[in-house]
Amino acid sequence: MEDLGDALSGARDIAMLGGGNPAHIPEVQSFFVDRMQRICDQPAEFCHLVGDYDPPRGEPRFIAALAEMLRGEYGWEIGPENIALTAGSQSAFFQLFNMFAGPCSDGSFRRILLPMTPEYIGYADVGLVEGMFTSQRPAIETFPDGTFKYHVDFGRLEVGTDIGAICVSRPTNPTGNVLSDGEVDRLHDLARARDIPLIIDNAYGKPFPNIVFTDIRVPWSEHIILSMSLSKLGLPGVRTGIVIARPDIARDIAAMNAIFTLALGSLGPTIALDLVSSGEILRLSNNVIRPFYERKARRTQELLRAALPGVDFRIHRAEGAIFLWVWLPGLPVSSEELYRRLKQRGVLVLSGHHFFPGLAEDWQHRHECLRISYAMPDEMVQRGVKILGEEIRRATGAG
Ligand SMILES: Cc1ncc(COP(=O)(O)O)c(C=O)c1O
Repeated sequence: MEDLGDALSGARDIAMLGGGNPAHIPEVQSFFVDRMQRICDQPAEFCHLVGDYDPPRGEPRFIAALAEMLRGEYGWEIGPENIALTAGSQSAFFQLFNMFAGPCSDGSFRRILLPMTPEYIGYADVGLVEGMFTSQRPAIETFPDGTFKYHVDFGRLEVGTDIGAICVSRPTNPTGNVLSDGEVDRLHDLARARDIPLIIDNAYGKPFPNIVFTDIRVPWSEHIILSMSLSKLGLPGVRTGIVIARPDIARDIAAMNAIFTLALGSLGPTIALDLVSSGEILRLSNNVIRPFYERKARRTQELLRAALPGVDFRIHRAEGAIFLWVWLPGLPVSSEELYRRLKQRGVLVLSGHHFFPGLAEDWQHRHECLRISYAMPDEMVQRGVKILGEEIRRATGAG
């Protein structure tokens, strides 16, 4: 994390293909600038923004507008009582995982099931106690075009009585995988049968920021907790996460907010309020953000293929999020060693081995993958991929 922070703060001239920072998309940013200017032009609005605590659940106007938008868009029967904001969705995971897993009052110990790894690195350390996660390997499907795709291996999936919740990121960080509707339906059925929640991490998902390149449904029910965020829309600095859940769960999140931070920052929901109440957030997500990242995903795959002649590699199907996941079967050095070599040459990517939280068994595949972010400016991605290609060719003896 220090490497990523240094690179973003400009401490070194680094090709930053490692972090999860979203791109600065001018057409999206102009909305934020415009909204801020309008807030500053209205002294009452500005004074409310900086001078008042919001309720622990979060900015009420934003929550009401969001509930209305989701009702209209998806027909979900939800209201403001189903929504609580958090200080970024990372914080929501800390709250949710420790709510549904860990030591229980009846003396039992519950865990979070990640039905498929690779999975988001940010979950790994949020448990207040050790051993909060259990996970399993995916099934791997390969395609003739040099891509591959992970699937939940339902044949091996067991939801034991010690499981307190199931969680998936969709789209998945780090792989760009998007679980199919069928996979989500099956996970939902398993959660319902055990009366536990299925937590869907929708940080990149629909309806916003909609960095999803496949056609999917977004489900919600009383057994689903949907976690959303303003970050990947282009607002990571305002730290706004959104939990959509059963009213008692949303109320518990609000209660935890009150304890952790008294009140949440008002800036994110205030900036996003007009975008949500006008529906403009959907237009921006569908017509600007999604095509922007889809183009970058395509372009970065072309760069990688050009940079890796003679190398045995596969790219995970780029179905969403802001990353490519590259698998180098039989890589003679570990992905961590490759990460070190690349860092020395001024390119930051992430070694794949970090992304297997809760997976007890060792698996060679863990050490054969890299996560590459394509969100940064084209010139930086191009420079980084060129050096990446040189180092991989050197490591694999491909010239
Ligand atoms: C899958 C996923 N979930 C959650 C988060 C946390 O985002 P934030 O705390 O900025 O909302 C990230 C950040 O990269 C992510 O990739």
